[in-house]
Amino acid sequence: MRKKIVAGNWKMNLDRTQGEQLIQDVLAQKAEVSKGAILVFCPPFPHLGYAKSILGAENSIFLGAQNCSDKASGAFTGEVSAPILRSFGVEYVILGHSERRQYFAESDSLLAQKVDQVLANGLQPIFCCGESLEQRNAGDFVNLVSEQLTKGLFHLSAESFAKVVIAYEPIWAIGTGVTASSAQAQEMHAALRKHIAKYYGEAVAQNTSILYGGSCKPDNAAELFACADVDGGLIGGASLKASDFIGIAKSF
Ligand code: 13P
Repeated sequence: MRKKIVAGNWKMNLDRTQGEQLIQDVLAQKAEVSKGAILVFCPPFPHLGYAKSILGAENSIFLGAQNCSDKASGAFTGEVSAPILRSFGVEYVILGHSERRQYFAESDSLLAQKVDQVLANGLQPIFCCGESLEQRNAGDFVNLVSEQLTKGLFHLSAESFAKVVIAYEPIWAIGTGVTASSAQAQEMHAALRKHIAKYYGEAVAQNTSILYGGSCKPDNAAELFACADVDGGLIGGASLKASDFIGIAKSF
């Protein structure tokens, strides 16, 4: 059975005091999280060390990074590698977020290399894909988003692909307050699952968690999570407030 996941992408927000408080507040309310769902905190890199200490042996809340290098080590000032992340107890790495693609010019081929690094170090990629409003209006958005998976992931063996989590994040819904309707989300998630099935077979596709991201809030999460092919959320703004994050995590 595929995992139900609610991952909080803090982006470049919260200082240490605020981050510690948020994690403590979420921990205090974790009993409310829907049965079988797991939470992932994806804070900026410097938070990872203390976050792991706070979480301790907690077995339903995990740590994720928002990015990592395509290289294993070496003279790459400012970069953080998958082996370093692993040594801090990180288990997930967001890759291919539209903000990385757009503002940091991350290409499909670079992302494919980052995916390899993450998997080679025993971490799980949360691989993001999604179309802009212009691309949606142009009509061919399902193929376009499917291609993002093909280029970033389909070089993997079925065994490696099985460790990947997908996050569909329509760019027009990120931080805008405009959520994809449940029908729009379901249409894309089902299409992506079918695309995966074509390459890796039905069993692998059925086991792949596909998260939705883009203005997901406590008041729309239940409708989105009720969709057959939506397995949780990658949450930006609403992950910065414990009551909102928990409000989403109890919506399965
Ligand atoms: P918002 O939830 O703030 O729209 O952000 C979504 C996102 O980009 C998560 O990665």
